[in-house]
Amino acid sequence: MLVDTVKHYMFEEMLERIKKIIDPSKIDYIISNHTEMDHSGGLPGMMDIAKNAVIICSPNGEKGLKKHFKKDWKFKVVNTGDSINIGKRNLNFVLMQMVHWPDSMATYIPEDKLLLPNDAFGQHIASCERFDDEYGWDRVRIEAAKYYANIVLPFGAQVNKALEAVSGLDINMIAPSHGLMWRSHIKDIIGLYKKWANNVYDKKAVIVYDTMWHSTEKMAYAIKDVFEEKDIPCEIKNLQASHISDVMASILEAKYICVGSPTLNNGMLPTVAAFLTYIKGLAPKNRIGIAFGSYGWGGQAVSDIENILEAAKFELPVRGLKAQWVPDALELEELKNKIRGAIE
Ligand code: FEO
Repeated sequence: MLVDTVKHYMFEEMLERIKKIIDPSKIDYIISNHTEMDHSGGLPGMMDIAKNAVIICSPNGEKGLKKHFKKDWKFKVVNTGDSINIGKRNLNFVLMQMVHWPDSMATYIPEDKLLLPNDAFGQHIASCERFDDEYGWDRVRIEAAKYYANIVLPFGAQVNKALEAVSGLDINMIAPSHGLMWRSHIKDIIGLYKKWANNVYDKKAVIVYDTMWHSTEKMAYAIKDVFEEKDIPCEIKNLQASHISDVMASILEAKYICVGSPTLNNGMLPTVAAFLTYIKGLAPKNRIGIAFGSYGWGGQAVSDIENILEAAKFELPVRGLKAQWVPDALELEELKNKIRGAIE
């Protein structure tokens, strides 16, 4: 039995690794827990070698794999509660729809108390270490949060359902299809998934901005001063230096999200527009948004940012935070006063 494959260009490496354990042509079952091509890219190659293998997948998995690969493979479609005996072990299946695709499912092996949840509980870590405790909780937590913020965040309700579905399982190890296996921090990562799925944030702020001539940057640092006055931890992210996936990792547990852009050609800078498109799709809930920015004449960027944040259901306690050309100390103090009055 093989659980998932790899991206197509990693197929040969996967095959070499399988050969060290078993003749790949003798594989009877290939479980496809998820159709996305980072897990199914090697499936055509494997099916060419394991000619008698049956692909085990969810109902949407079968539809998705047929649409992706147009092959007449043998499928065994499973649903939550289904079980297949493979000799010494049983494979139990739990559908995890929309965590994070319609086809997603988990496989549980009771004899090993092992949960194979594919993307869920994953991290983008490639390391010599194999287990959470070898890599260190602090570091693996950061990567698990980044992964959740960028991939799973829109699907909190479905994550809650999935957590409920696996809550009765006796789990000694979680082996996601990305990153390290969880054996020492199983309760911790499940607890964090509950927190993130329910959009529980900390009293923390993230200021995201881009700047042309440092005026919007001056405003960003003035806003940061106010959060620090109030003992609210605050991270500042210049979009010229921070990737939006790192910004989202910071935002995952933040109550206040401040977004700044100068006005360029009657709108916001493209980096800020890209970030807002991204965060709108990832849809963090119950957050406070603050827009700000400098301008020369029109000043439309701030209201454009406000409109997007409002459409994304952010609460906006203060509006129209603009500074013309280069803000001086007095103007920055006025800005600070407006922020002081808007945050708790
Ligand atoms: Fe949704 Fe790891 O693919």
